[in-house]
Amino acid sequence: MAKYIIEKSDPLRGEVTISGAKNAVLPLMAAALLSEGPCVIRDAPALKDVEIMCRLIEALGAEVDADLDQNVVSITAKEIKAYQAPMDLVVKMRASILVLGPLLARTGHAVISMPGGCAIGDRPIELHLKGMRALGADVTINEEGSIITCSCEQLRGATIYLDFPSVGATENIVMAACMARGTTIIENAAQEPEITDLVNFLNKMGARIKGAGTDTIKIEGVEKLHGAMHYVIPDRIESGTFMVAAAISRGTVLVKNVLPDHVKPVMAKLKECGVEVVVSDEGILVNADKGELISTDIKTLPYPGFPTDMQSPFMALLTTVEGTSAVIETVFENRYMHVKELRKMGASIKVDGRCAIIEGGGKLHGAKVNATDLRGGAAVVLAGLVAEGRTEVDSIYHIERGYEHFVEKLRALGGRIRREED
Ligand code: EPZ
Repeated sequence: MAKYIIEKSDPLRGEVTISGAKNAVLPLMAAALLSEGPCVIRDAPALKDVEIMCRLIEALGAEVDADLDQNVVSITAKEIKAYQAPMDLVVKMRASILVLGPLLARTGHAVISMPGGCAIGDRPIELHLKGMRALGADVTINEEGSIITCSCEQLRGATIYLDFPSVGATENIVMAACMARGTTIIENAAQEPEITDLVNFLNKMGARIKGAGTDTIKIEGVEKLHGAMHYVIPDRIESGTFMVAAAISRGTVLVKNVLPDHVKPVMAKLKECGVEVVVSDEGILVNADKGELISTDIKTLPYPGFPTDMQSPFMALLTTVEGTSAVIETVFENRYMHVKELRKMGASIKVDGRCAIIEGGGKLHGAKVNATDLRGGAAVVLAGLVAEGRTEVDSIYHIERGYEHFVEKLRALGGRIRREED
């Protein structure tokens, strides 16, 4: 198994260019199943999850040409030959559930294995299924609860209230409703920028969707969708991760190809910590060499609140800031797997339910740690950059699912990190 070897590094300095967003490109690729015409997705990040999604879409019968060196993925779903997502791929990647809506809309059938939970929580999909049923689909789950079968000759518009503004459920319902008969309204919809990016792509394909980015999305069904080309938005979580990398190392980094509007909560919290954050046409300059940082509290919320995906990297920063900080994770029920790894490095963190209390300012020391999940892995890497001595990070496949050229980008900023095959 490959691992990262990290030594204490100098303050990071220089500039980093952010890649296309993992959590945007995956629904965009699923949306390409809705049209017979060619779809071209640019700025697609070269990530494991993108490769898995390519294989999944190919298995359903679409033509896929992924040139990830050029960050381009072309998909032509002239005909869908299968409507069962292969189990081995669904188990590998939860986002496979995003083919549910497109398959149902395009073929009237979808058979999906129940996506597994993961390190950060049980991650049920009842809101996805509630949406499909509301649109007229017959949804059955086998006795073992492992296979979901959906069918519907013709989906019809409906008004659907989401008990929680689930990103994936919003995306699946939007995609299923594009060619439903009549109008669909999603209430309490997720407002994440990745939803807006998906809707922009669907509207280019001929869909008629309004309200993306608000809590109410209206979709007027159309007969067919045609192919389109689209540039993926920059990854706001990768942006936040590198902004925090500048802060934790007390360095100065220019983060380029970032949409400031998408990272407002992270910018606000870094400023509260005493970090200088300057937005310009070039990007976001994060400067943390102005002396002592100040502890602060964060509470994760659906967008536009502080993003849950930034909770663990930001916690790593807070372990290095003198004083007591509180973290409240309201989105996932088990997103503190990284705490025990940070404790191995000397961090003082107490967890009680959804709340974590950090006594920051103590010196972190190198240790052998695990990447417990994608963002928890990023957290221990950032901590390793400032810990005394050497840190070894195992299970780095989690990290490489969601950060393109992570090691190269950190090394270009002066990070002393290398990848080692066992
Ligand atoms: C997306 O996951 C992201 N993944 C996650 O990013 C992100 O953390 C999450 O949104 C929240 O922002 C992708 O976009 C591929 P949710 P998703 O449905 O769609 C509960 C990363 O690190 N819920 O908004 O699965 C669920 O259990 C990943 O890049 C239900 O209860 O998130 C969770 O507690 C991690 N029932 C909460 O909602 C449902 O039917 C948020 O889930 C669906 C969700």
